[in-house]
Amino acid sequence: MTTRLLAFSGSTRKESLNSQVLQVAIAGAESVKGCTVTLINLNDYSMPLYNGDDEQASGMPETAQKLLRLFEKHDGLLLASPEYNGFFTPLIKNTFDWMTRAEPDGKVGLRIFKRYPVALISSSPGLMGGLRSLMMVRMYLGNLGCLVLPEQVAVTGQKIKDGKITDEKLEAQVKAIGAGLAEWVGK
Ligand SMILES: Cc1cc2nc3c(=O)[nH]c(=O)nc-3n(C[C@H](O)[C@H](O)[C@H](O)COP(=O)(O)O)c2cc1C
Repeated sequence: MTTRLLAFSGSTRKESLNSQVLQVAIAGAESVKGCTVTLINLNDYSMPLYNGDDEQASGMPETAQKLLRLFEKHDGLLLASPEYNGFFTPLIKNTFDWMTRAEPDGKVGLRIFKRYPVALISSSPGLMGGLRSLMMVRMYLGNLGCLVLPEQVAVTGQKIKDGKITDEKLEAQVKAIGAGLAEWVGK
C-alpha cells in the first residue's frame, strides 16, 4: 500500500534552515516501504494576507484551493516550522487560515483538516532550535482538527552544515519523525 505524504517548510527563504532539516525528515519518511513524499514550496502557493473584504469580493484564492486539493490527495503532512518571536510564521498561519474558509462550491475547507495526520520539526539558529514555535503550531493545528504526532524535534542551526545535520543522534531523531509519520499513517 502506498502512503502519500505532503511536506513543506514554513519558510520560503532560499537558505532556510527549516527547509534543510525537512529534507532529512523526508529521507526518514521515504525509508519506510511504500511511502512517497511530495515536497512543495509555499512560494508556489502564495496567498494575499487574509482580509474579510477581499474574501467577500473574490472568495478563496485559487492557490488555497489548489493546496487543499493536494491535502486531499495526501495522507499526512510533514511540517517544518520556523520560530518568529516564539511563534510560528505568519506564512504558515495565513496559508492555513485561507484554506479553512469557504470554497467556491460552498464547502468549508476546514473539513479537510479533521483528523489530518501531521508531524512537526523546527529549526532556528538558537540553541532551542525553534522549540517554542512547535508548541504554538501544535495548538493551532489542533484547533483545525489535525492529529499532531506527540513526537517532535527542534534542531539548532549550530548543528547544520551544508544541508546536513552534523550530530548523528539528532539526525536520526529527525529521520524518525518522518518515518514515524509514514508508519503511523500507513497502519
Ligand atoms: C521576526 C523574527 C523573529 C524571530 N524570532 C526568533 C525567536 O523567537 N527564536 C528563534 O530561535 N529565532 C528567531 N528568529 C530567527 C529565525 O529563527 C531565523 O531567521 C531562522 O533562520 C528562520 O528560519 P529559516 O532559516 O527556515 O528561514 C526570528 C527571526 C525573525 C525574522
